[in-house]
Amino acid sequence: MDRRDVTVALVSGTVLSILSSGLVYYLLSTKQHTPEEEPAYVHRGQLIVEGVDGLIGNTPLMKIRSLSEATGCTILGKAEFLNPGGSAKDRVALNMIRSAEAKGILQPHMGSTIFEGTVGSTGISIATIARARGYEAWIVMPDDQAKEKYQLLEKLGAHVEKVRPVSIIDKNQFVNLANRRAHEFNTGDKVGYFADQFENEANFEAHYTTTGPEIYQQTQGHIDALVLGAGTGGTLSGLTRYLKPRIAQLKIFLADPLGSGLYNKVKYNTMYSPTEKEGTRKRHQVDTVVEGIGINRLTRNFDFGRDLVDDAYRVTDDEAVRMSRFLVREDGLFLGSSSAVNCVAAVRVARQLGPGHVIVTLLNDSGQRHLTKFWSDDYLETHGIRHDLGPEESLNDIVQ
Ligand SMILES: Cc1ncc(COP(=O)(O)O)c(C=O)c1O
Repeated sequence: MDRRDVTVALVSGTVLSILSSGLVYYLLSTKQHTPEEEPAYVHRGQLIVEGVDGLIGNTPLMKIRSLSEATGCTILGKAEFLNPGGSAKDRVALNMIRSAEAKGILQPHMGSTIFEGTVGSTGISIATIARARGYEAWIVMPDDQAKEKYQLLEKLGAHVEKVRPVSIIDKNQFVNLANRRAHEFNTGDKVGYFADQFENEANFEAHYTTTGPEIYQQTQGHIDALVLGAGTGGTLSGLTRYLKPRIAQLKIFLADPLGSGLYNKVKYNTMYSPTEKEGTRKRHQVDTVVEGIGINRLTRNFDFGRDLVDDAYRVTDDEAVRMSRFLVREDGLFLGSSSAVNCVAAVRVARQLGPGHVIVTLLNDSGQRHLTKFWSDDYLETHGIRHDLGPEESLNDIVQ
């Protein structure tokens, strides 16, 4: 370590400890919140970081005032939408690329390309970090996602391939096609690397080594419940495996949109009825406006943490949409669909546990990435999903 490294380490350590002790003070304080009593806030912008990768992680835990006041619990959202690529997937993309570099599979600036099948967020993170580290990105996506995600990917210089949403047993399903494209690309010096977020252990590891320790440090282990949805399951498993052995009272709750099989897997250890299995049912996609969470197959990353999940809640599209409108009305918090699902489930958990508990959930991405679907009144009306929220309607009207 040179002197500059030591200074950066000292400054980071001090900032982290001030942040965490400030938050613990805040959590443990039973007084009513007033502006004069705000704890000292140290902005994470005071740190000097290197490059875009340096902006990833160390996101704040935000107290969601409206939900906390209405339930009597402290409901905290990990503000993952503050990552440079706009979601928690930045952590995953960075770790998958680093792990491929460590294994000698990828070498920067050799014309290699990273291939991934994704509903968008992971693609955007891969495209961002690929640029920062000297690779190209080739992203295969189902063609029914919010169109701003394709536009963003193109602006980031990724090659975008859209395919019809079909089941995992189809060879042209977006994940299968990304895998095949990587193999086809693999000729000579240029490597085609299939990132494979659903099965790649580096996904789970990203949360086990960063998001989990951050939450532990920020709360000093004062958490009663962790509530979140699962797509690949990397976040859920990484956090669960890190936090549960360290926090005796911690309960883990899955938040699942309708049409996903994970709720049944957690509650009854059966993913689906034989007619619903992915590949056998007529409707291939999870039937929801929510993007990023909910799935009808068991992935390796979900499996890592599955046995530690205590219970599950189902969330309807109407509930998620109206929750997102409520959070803007009350808190000025503009969230994407999976975060809204998490918040609905967090309220259910708060009611189940009763006042005085600390509940942590994930705010995965912002509403800006969902303007043309989840945040489009026209789209929702066409699909029969409620989006109205009267000025007098309370949380009890939204979450039954
Ligand atoms: C916006 C968003 N939220 C949540 C998730 C779920 O995270 P995980 O894949 O770790 O289960 C995803 C996954 O793609 C996502 O895109």
